[in-house]
Amino acid sequence: MSKNLDQEVAEFSTSINEDQQLYWFDIIGSLAHGKMLQKIKILNQSEAQQIQLGLVQLLQSIEKNQIDLSIYEDIHSAVEMNLKQIIGEPAEKLHTARSRNDQIVLDERLFLREKIIHLIRGINNLQKALLTLAQKYPSLVMPGYTHLQPAQPVLFAHHLLAYFFMLQRDAERLQDALTRLNQLPLGAGALAGTSIPIDRKFVADLLAFPSVQLNSMDVVADRDYILEILSALSIEFIHLSRFGEEIVLWSSPSFQFIIIDDAFTTGSSIMPQKKNPDIAELIRGKTGEIVASWISLAVTLKGLPLTYNRDLQQDKPPLFRAIRECEKTFHIAARLMNNIQPNPEKMEEALKNGFLTSTDLCEYLVGKGIPFRKAHEMVGSIVRELASHDKNLHDLNYEELEGYIDCIDREVMIVLDEKQSINRKQSEGSTSLQEVKKQIDIAQKLLDQWTDYNTRLEKEWHSKYELLLKGE
Ligand code: ARG
Repeated sequence: MSKNLDQEVAEFSTSINEDQQLYWFDIIGSLAHGKMLQKIKILNQSEAQQIQLGLVQLLQSIEKNQIDLSIYEDIHSAVEMNLKQIIGEPAEKLHTARSRNDQIVLDERLFLREKIIHLIRGINNLQKALLTLAQKYPSLVMPGYTHLQPAQPVLFAHHLLAYFFMLQRDAERLQDALTRLNQLPLGAGALAGTSIPIDRKFVADLLAFPSVQLNSMDVVADRDYILEILSALSIEFIHLSRFGEEIVLWSSPSFQFIIIDDAFTTGSSIMPQKKNPDIAELIRGKTGEIVASWISLAVTLKGLPLTYNRDLQQDKPPLFRAIRECEKTFHIAARLMNNIQPNPEKMEEALKNGFLTSTDLCEYLVGKGIPFRKAHEMVGSIVRELASHDKNLHDLNYEELEGYIDCIDREVMIVLDEKQSINRKQSEGSTSLQEVKKQIDIAQKLLDQWTDYNTRLEKEWHSKYELLLKGE
């Protein structure tokens, strides 16, 4: 470059405010790269050792806040320039066969695989909170809704577990993204690879990547590994927003199905009677930001020619923002669940409205040989008539019911009982006590599997990092 960069241009184009969070991974990646350069004899032993010790020293200084990173263009130049200050000339060899274009992708991939495990753990904690509540109230019955109209009795635990399994898929989506993310990008150079005989498999092994990315242009041009994560997180938040909405509904004076601990609600500055479910509302409300982060990156990527373009630097604000918000939200959502208590009396009261056992009555009549469509018609007309007299199914005694339908027996009175309805369900995945118990057992096993998965991967990565830091 012939001239010094214009100050405003420098400020406009810097990414250090965002990417300084990647310092740890930039240094770990540099340690691995240096080791490989020694293997292929670009660095002699003394140079390699100086680089290794210098990078570790730099890492410690950054951790002690002794270095002002904000004055550099990005984290890669910050690390390189500071290393030069610490060890002098050998630092100039470290950037051999490497470009910031493949370096940023390496930093992001290393950072993100750790974050994926954190995020999965956050989801698991929320799953655990749901499961704990389900286990605590295994037989509590409440109205289930369609169109927000009372539909059929369901177990409270069944409703909670519906969210458990949505969250399970959300965690699996992140796990799936990890399989594609977890590949070594380094060695792509600026875009075309390098004439220097680097050993990419060796670097992959040092950093615990199961494989290397195949196409150097693909490496530096794409950010789909971020897009995938943001997409998984968007779906997760769409789930959470529905969950937040249900907490809002259930805790409202119109439902009163749950009681939220006072520490998790707020009052109003003007209306003294208010107990507002702000946390649930904010969980619901933050969804916009997460989905927007996916859109932000998708629009950035759209139409970019291969390969690296500076636009790609704009991947960081949405990525970091989304991860920060997700981590906070998963944490508080789990705590919110731990501070919620159901209100069985109100659920029971609500069960009495809305003819919730109408479908059970139809199915009972099917058992008596009546075609379902006919049974539906018969029950429909009884319900309409009762409704016009402001009465309910359970207001009928056996004799009155016999007046409407002649093929019934005494068992029908149990069929009409909202709380008994649960026990009549038989199908797999239904809201019966046994089926929900089955779900609870499976849910517990899934959580145990996650614990194994998360710790196994972290251990594998961290033991590799330790070797690099120790210079072994
Ligand atoms: N700060 C840049 C980014 O985040 C790093 C790569 C810079 N490459 C370049 N050719 N300027 O994308």
